[in-house]
Amino acid sequence: MSELLRASFLRPPALRLGVNIDHVATIRNARGGDHPDPVRAAEMVAGAGGDGITAHLREDRRHIRDDDLARIQAATGLPLNLEMAATEEMLEIALRHKPHAACIVPERREERTTEGGLDAAGMHNHLAPFVSRLSDAGIRVSLFIAPDPRQIEAAMMLGAPVVELHTGEYAHAEGEARAAELRRIADMAALAAKNGIEPHAGHGLTFDNVAAVAAIPQLAELNIGHFLIGEAIFVGLEASIRQMRQLMDDAR
Ligand code: PXP
Repeated sequence: MSELLRASFLRPPALRLGVNIDHVATIRNARGGDHPDPVRAAEMVAGAGGDGITAHLREDRRHIRDDDLARIQAATGLPLNLEMAATEEMLEIALRHKPHAACIVPERREERTTEGGLDAAGMHNHLAPFVSRLSDAGIRVSLFIAPDPRQIEAAMMLGAPVVELHTGEYAHAEGEARAAELRRIADMAALAAKNGIEPHAGHGLTFDNVAAVAAIPQLAELNIGHFLIGEAIFVGLEASIRQMRQLMDDAR
């Protein structure tokens, strides 16, 4: 077998990039008008190498709003991953819009972003009907959890097909603490995959820290938002996404 052929067999499967467009809406909402439109950002994602759109409809609607969801779905053929809190209101919206995937996240109104992972272990009884009702509607359920074996076990008990491992601690740590956090993410990606759960990862990823995460072979998807939109101010959204795509591909 040629080296080239061997390399292509050994290479892990492609890593999808979900682009979180929430912060386009954050800027729009700062002035209360309709510019910049997150739908226009969603339309640009595919051409720049993104594989999906991620958006978090928060309880306080500080990012995207209800009407954005339908407009995003109509404007792009890419799969939509709806991040949502486990509330009746969000469940009803998800069932109405039927996104490709729903990522259940913890949500506290006063937090600036999604700070910790979901306590899937402690919230089994609360989460179980959300996982089953979303799954029954054909929506791929993901749980946003810390890279912790208890949480992976809880995701298995809940029958979630996907977990998204929280990379925030990794992104904020330095030196040996960062290396330890990266090992936890790699170990939990392997544990999830071994148990039939597709591992994704996200939060706080940047051009500087994405490669080590993208190199984890079991990971199937990264969801990245704040950095991409921030960088877009300087280089444009397409260039920002394209560079992230390149760094992810180079790391595989
Ligand atoms: N994944 C999930 C579940 C999130 O809640 C967020 C933040 O909204 C992200 C990924 C993206 O994080 P960041 O904006 O830091 O890239």
